[in-house]
Amino acid sequence: MFKRGFNKIYMKVLWVAAKLLPISKPTMFIGKDSSVELCRSIALMGPKKVLIVTDAGIVNLGFVEMLSSELEKWSVSTECYSRVTPDPTYDQVESGAVLYRESCCDAVLAIGGGSPIDCGKAIAALATNVKPIKRLTGLLKLRKAPAPLFVIPTTAGTGSEVTVAAVISDPITHKKTPILDHKLMPVAAALDPVLMQGLPSHITAQTGMDALTHAVESYISTNATPETDRYALAAVKLIAKSLETAVSNGGNLEARLDMALASYYAGLAFTKASLGYTHAIAHTLGSYYGVPHGLANALVLPNVLAYSKNSAASRLANLAVVIGEPAGGDNAEAFISWVRDLRQKLGIPDTLESLDEGDIAGIARQACIEAVWNYPAPRYMEQQDCERVIAELLPTTAD
Ligand SMILES: [Fe+2]
Repeated sequence: MFKRGFNKIYMKVLWVAAKLLPISKPTMFIGKDSSVELCRSIALMGPKKVLIVTDAGIVNLGFVEMLSSELEKWSVSTECYSRVTPDPTYDQVESGAVLYRESCCDAVLAIGGGSPIDCGKAIAALATNVKPIKRLTGLLKLRKAPAPLFVIPTTAGTGSEVTVAAVISDPITHKKTPILDHKLMPVAAALDPVLMQGLPSHITAQTGMDALTHAVESYISTNATPETDRYALAAVKLIAKSLETAVSNGGNLEARLDMALASYYAGLAFTKASLGYTHAIAHTLGSYYGVPHGLANALVLPNVLAYSKNSAASRLANLAVVIGEPAGGDNAEAFISWVRDLRQKLGIPDTLESLDEGDIAGIARQACIEAVWNYPAPRYMEQQDCERVIAELLPTTAD
């Protein structure tokens, strides 16, 4: 009971903080070949040497070569740090910042999925705040503005081009810690569907479900505002229209662009309205079993929505209307069913093979701690509630 009361008060404090903090938005370049436009804009803004932060896969696709030659056309030279791995680590950030300084760079361009973008944000922060990276983790620890940061996402899900967080892992304990600061917002970003065409279908599906979870959790958040509602509803509409097509036909540029926009809008929504228990449980499943973030969200989202249904019925009903359900009837249930159906159509399972029944109490404990400090969810979960929601993911054993 004490925790529930504390959660309510603390979430109000976060709501006020979100209103008071000067959270800007990046200048956006959107559409086919917008990454080329972004390169021109970088040159116009003054940088002379840009550190491109990415991973080996993006280098192999030729995107770094393309961006370097575009920048060189405008007399901007480049250096590349391409050793980013999934869940970037403190030492990767520190190596990238050393390369930035030794190469006399004056801006960072991060290209890739969530990991290169998080690593790029952290390198930009460390470039100007010279101290051990661990001391930058936590809330509002950046004294100086990061190096000018430009971003090109090649997946549509994290929304990290518009978020004020970068998650970095300890290479020894594997514990993930965020740097949370409004100064981390990129200067400009490009949503270029051409660079997303080659994304494998299962990653398109999982990252798309991450974007859907951002939109839905921010929409049913008790800290939602009319502004975050507009972004969340637009994101859900675009995902309902185009996620299946982006998965089945990755070369469809219209569907790719819709999903890139959906991820962007959902990012704008959750940066201010925050998330909920789906993310708390998904993060914990990631730390226990290495479940990819989008997959973990897809597994958990319908179960958390079913738990929250009575407390968020009218909000869920609005979402049902947005995806084309006729008004009237149990529309909250209709929306939850739509999420389950979409997940099935995308080939995502509804149970987690690696889930060990003996771990459920520990997973629930960790998830509830994350939620009580971070998420203005419409219905509070006690330990036993959370355990029940997680247990629904146990594989059913045939008789
Ligand atoms: Fe997420």
